[in-house]
Amino acid sequence: MDSFNRRGFLKAGAAVSGAAALWQAAVNAQSATSHATNRRVLPMNRNWLYGGHAVPGCSAPGFDDAKFQRVTVPHSNRIFPWHSFDEKDFQFVSIYRRHFNLTPPPGRRVFVDFAGVMTAATVTINGHKLGEYRGGYTPFSFELTEYIKAGAPNVLAVEVDSTERPDIPPFGENIDYLTFGGIYREVALRIVPPVFIENVFAKPVNVLSSDRTVQVKCLLNGHPSGSMTVKAELRDDARVLAAATGPAFNEPLTLANPGDIELWDLEHPKLYTVVARLYQGNTEVDEYTTRIGFREGRFTPQGFMLNGQHIKLRGLNRHQTFPFVGGAMPARVQRRDALVLKRDLKCNIVRTSHYPQSTHFLDACDEAGLLVFEEIPGWQHIGDQAWQDLAVRNVGEMIHRDWNHPSIILWGVRINESQDNHDFYTRTNALAHELDDSRQTGGVRYLYDTELLEDVMTMNDFGFPLRPPNHPLYLNTEFNGHMFPTKRYDNVDRVMEHALRHARVHNQLASDDRYAGGIGWCAFDYNTHANFGSGDKICYHGVSDIFRIAKPAGQFYRSQCDPKEEIVLEPCFNWSQGDQSEGGGIRHAVIVSNCDHLKIYVKDTLKFEADPDQATYGHLPHPPFVLDLTGEHLEDWGDLRIDGYLNGAKVASKTLPGNDYDRELHVEPDDAELMGDGVDATRVVLRVTNEHGGARPFSTGAIALHIEGPGEIVGENPFSLAGGVGAIWVRSKEAAGTIRLHARHPYLGTKTVEIKVKAAEPEAV
Ligand code: GAL
Repeated sequence: MDSFNRRGFLKAGAAVSGAAALWQAAVNAQSATSHATNRRVLPMNRNWLYGGHAVPGCSAPGFDDAKFQRVTVPHSNRIFPWHSFDEKDFQFVSIYRRHFNLTPPPGRRVFVDFAGVMTAATVTINGHKLGEYRGGYTPFSFELTEYIKAGAPNVLAVEVDSTERPDIPPFGENIDYLTFGGIYREVALRIVPPVFIENVFAKPVNVLSSDRTVQVKCLLNGHPSGSMTVKAELRDDARVLAAATGPAFNEPLTLANPGDIELWDLEHPKLYTVVARLYQGNTEVDEYTTRIGFREGRFTPQGFMLNGQHIKLRGLNRHQTFPFVGGAMPARVQRRDALVLKRDLKCNIVRTSHYPQSTHFLDACDEAGLLVFEEIPGWQHIGDQAWQDLAVRNVGEMIHRDWNHPSIILWGVRINESQDNHDFYTRTNALAHELDDSRQTGGVRYLYDTELLEDVMTMNDFGFPLRPPNHPLYLNTEFNGHMFPTKRYDNVDRVMEHALRHARVHNQLASDDRYAGGIGWCAFDYNTHANFGSGDKICYHGVSDIFRIAKPAGQFYRSQCDPKEEIVLEPCFNWSQGDQSEGGGIRHAVIVSNCDHLKIYVKDTLKFEADPDQATYGHLPHPPFVLDLTGEHLEDWGDLRIDGYLNGAKVASKTLPGNDYDRELHVEPDDAELMGDGVDATRVVLRVTNEHGGARPFSTGAIALHIEGPGEIVGENPFSLAGGVGAIWVRSKEAAGTIRLHARHPYLGTKTVEIKVKAAEPEAV
């Protein structure tokens, strides 16, 4: 890794792995307008043959795979119910095979790029074992050049070990999440010239001053000759803003005087592209494109500064797993989580707990203006020297893969919540700083008195009140979580308290600039091991459920936005829900809102007026409304109407029926159109509401699904609602047309939705 960085090029080799070849880089290069004909990236996601359990000889070219199942990747080695399954079921070694024909132009090199395989992959081409890559969260590549049979059938075999191997982070002890298994991210073949651009670090420098530049470091693979040069350009779409040319393997190129630059920030996350071209004399040999943003993100004793402006960080932790398929969701679904966090939950930061997540998710964070704290795989346990070496390698792989994402402001280089280990963490920090001197490091801990080798004290603090910061640069990286697991259909007291606990912590964080802010545990409920969670293999720690549907705690996050963005008025209770402690009815009512005043009517008679609870939550942008209705005479029960006011004007109104009942089934796809590539998917939310569209948190009912057209259901069928809501995903087949999804509720009738499927290009290989 050291020589990789300092010399700026790699030796040619039969196999390179990890950061040495990057999936994202390949995708970027492919999608750019390319003049170079030498590089081709051929997606290889379809037509995999999946054989289930690996058996001896299953990677051999002639192995009989006629009975294997034809699958597309991302693929999960098993499909699961959304909870209450046996976590051992994905822990086995499986076999995937892919037949292909390829005649690369003479002299070209061929690589296979895996974006992520859980947890170890032994890759064989035409009977030649290329090696085992260990690690489920980082990309890797193998060079196939000398084994490809031009014009003849080739077979790539991947034995995927999804057991919890103690030699691979995060394993070795118990962990509070499931990793699942399979080739769960994309695969591609990459055809490149003998010397090619492996990676580009395009680092904006002096971002806030008029002499800002971009330093472009090109990492080459192969044996560059002395006459090779690199030309780099900074572009705003097609417009070239700055360019520089230099020898291929010297100091970074400096793109100077780019003129007026729009900064990347949370509201306007402006992105630019950097294109690097490799020349042999005057002949262009290779081209590589990446996206960047101009921003300066620093943790300081006064809190977090983005472009010199103080920003109180308010965010949530995200696990990358989904119901039914674990991590094996395509780009569209990965990307959508970033929007859920930014647009629905109004977060300004997410932590990728506890591992590098999909680059699709990170791309969407760049585009949405959502800051990211990304960290290496690990959970409390530190293994032996070889295990630590892998973790150090993970640091390099994470940074090499993701260093151009403007959304990433902090590298997490410590195993989450681990004990001190001076030598190990000296190495992880040194490597992070050596590869990227533009970002600070963090290392998440819960122990107060530990050795800080990172730049920022990133602390999990689950108590309340919070402990005072024990370092000038201090970020709370987890709170709540296991201290108060909450299902949406729990007793209303608990559901409201769940929202208030998040409010209390954020209020304290907002009260003191020494807290840079906080990242709550967590965004979404997630599947976990038997010795964690609620006993059904779920940690109900999310402010949203496992289907990404907000609970009242999620509505609290949403309510913190500026009303100019969205007016939020969300009661955290149901009016006709009568099992509150101490006598039923609604005695205490929490309403989260960014209104500044509420008028509350029962049966159209004004009963109460309320202001935000400034006394308890006064540091929040929008304190919740907490009403004590004890002693009120509400026996004349009827509809409750809440009108929200801002500066004296009525801006929102919500009606909660006194006589609440299941009234309507809603079937809501996130997307109206998919690509017919056999991979693309969209969530379809199933929901029962009252006549005002309000939630029915105790509603059940098995919904029978029937699908027609070029799509299939990812999920359970029939699907039983839990808490009045749930979701399945619809995945396209490799065809164009219209999917019709019919959903029949036992007593609310049938709804049908349509999703168009566009024709997709066939894969070239
Ligand atoms: C933390 C841990 C998280 C999660 C959380 C539950 O200690 O870092 O991964 O387990 O507890 O509250």
